[in-house]
Amino acid sequence: MKIHDWVKKSVGYEIYPRSFYDSNQDGMGDIQGIISKLDYLEYLGVNLLWIGPFYPSPLDDNGYDVSEFCDVDPSLGTLEDIKELIQLAHQKSIRIIFDYVMNQTSDEHPWFIESKSSTNNPKREYYLWAKGKGKNPPNNWGSFFGGSAWNYSQETDEYYMKIFSNKMPDLNWSSKNVQNEMAAVAKFWLDLGVDGFRMDAIAHLGRDMSFKDSTLKEENGIAYDWSKFSNREVLYTYLNNLHNQVFSKYSCVTIGEVGGGAKLDSALRYVNQEKPAIDMVFNFDSVWCLNDDGSTNVVELKKTINYWITGSRKAGIYLPQYWTNHDHPRAMSQYGNLEYFKESGKLLALVLLGLYGLPFIYNGEEIGMTNVDYTQLSDFKDVSSQNYFKMNQNKQSEQEMMEHIRKSGRDHGHLPMQWSDEKYAGFSNKSPYLKVNGNYKEINVQQQLNDSDSILNFYKQMIELRLKSQYSKTLIDGDFKLVLARHKQIFGYIREDDTFIITVLANMSNSKANYRLTDKEILLQNYEAHQKGVLQPYEALLMVEVK
Ligand code: NOJ
Repeated sequence: MKIHDWVKKSVGYEIYPRSFYDSNQDGMGDIQGIISKLDYLEYLGVNLLWIGPFYPSPLDDNGYDVSEFCDVDPSLGTLEDIKELIQLAHQKSIRIIFDYVMNQTSDEHPWFIESKSSTNNPKREYYLWAKGKGKNPPNNWGSFFGGSAWNYSQETDEYYMKIFSNKMPDLNWSSKNVQNEMAAVAKFWLDLGVDGFRMDAIAHLGRDMSFKDSTLKEENGIAYDWSKFSNREVLYTYLNNLHNQVFSKYSCVTIGEVGGGAKLDSALRYVNQEKPAIDMVFNFDSVWCLNDDGSTNVVELKKTINYWITGSRKAGIYLPQYWTNHDHPRAMSQYGNLEYFKESGKLLALVLLGLYGLPFIYNGEEIGMTNVDYTQLSDFKDVSSQNYFKMNQNKQSEQEMMEHIRKSGRDHGHLPMQWSDEKYAGFSNKSPYLKVNGNYKEINVQQQLNDSDSILNFYKQMIELRLKSQYSKTLIDGDFKLVLARHKQIFGYIREDDTFIITVLANMSNSKANYRLTDKEILLQNYEAHQKGVLQPYEALLMVEVK
């Protein structure tokens, strides 16, 4: 499907609203907080904001449990604030996309309250209900957050399906009424001026409606068989309908979250030329390319990114690129190195922003924010961490559970943004709803704004190079080819068109790396000087040759 031209000329930035900036000093970020940081975002140079959920929500899953789709949670602001945000961002030529939460509602959503009240309520069919097998759930399917994919509801003595938390009942997309209601939601926000959506959990809208047991191996009676509700054929029809009914009528972008296991063939089903559904898909493949000791598996990372880029170029589609998002560890902790803080932070900017595809920076990545330094189980608030603790408390020690969550937990991405070295990292005057990371005195925006050699200012430079320089065309559209593809330390690639050959070389390891390649004129680098044929730990270069 052909995307609008402006999409390729964008650099995305994901904002996690509750943790971005607290304007009214209640300990939680809000919409006015985002508005007050628009100048900062303009300075950084990003021009497409993805704003995470701000809808009314009981906050079981950080706002992905929505209790009203067409409104703003009072703790974050009002619809007027949202309109102001869109308008002011547009004045700065910054576009905005919202999270469109499609798979589920909160159990406190009026639809669900009605649906659960009786088997013949008109809203019953909005969700997926089934009778239990004796005292057990209807089948052995497992949920993403651990445990059964079903939860018991006393009112009608039946179970509802929920592939995330108990408080997030799944919508029944096979219902025409649900399809129409959800189309109206998308239309509502587009009419308000938003420029598109990041479509949450989009892969799961189609289900195996036979609800038959999975034959996969069970753990404690549960089979974690995502195929029962992922990338199923019928979902492309739902999305194609949405496209025809709504998206095709706006100059918007639609980016679906298509995680776990989706490969190119399934991506192409979404971004289909003949039967258009959505514009782009996010996959998670490049998030977890690690060696057993936690260091970056550079060969795997290159292979993965190359797979998606060469495949998408061949198919004529454009896909987003990112290191990590709000569901993942921080990029600095995942692929960077605190011992080489500045170098690795800049390296991440250089490699990401030189790739083919629409880059997304996660808020805080531009200053090298790190994983949490929490020392107690009770500090980890994310619902999936909490579920993990509940399920493993009799099997693992506190230390072991914490170790696990420190590697893969979602709390890392949720922490308040570190704006300054003032109390609470300048995020708020009041103790924030989530504890700030203890390293805010060293890692914060204010300090990096004042330092022309900071990671932040390097991001700014790299974004400028990508969007506003003579090299923009090459960086946006040029061919992509790996170099030194089997090198265990260096991530190297070439972007090339009729005018320039741009080479990126980045040593993603903590020891020196030798290479054999003719050096070209260096345009951007993260060390003061470069020694030909050798990259220092986390050294990264962008070199240019005129054709
Ligand atoms: C994916 C979102 O990124 C994640 O944060 C959320 O928990 C699930 N979808 C459910 O909405």
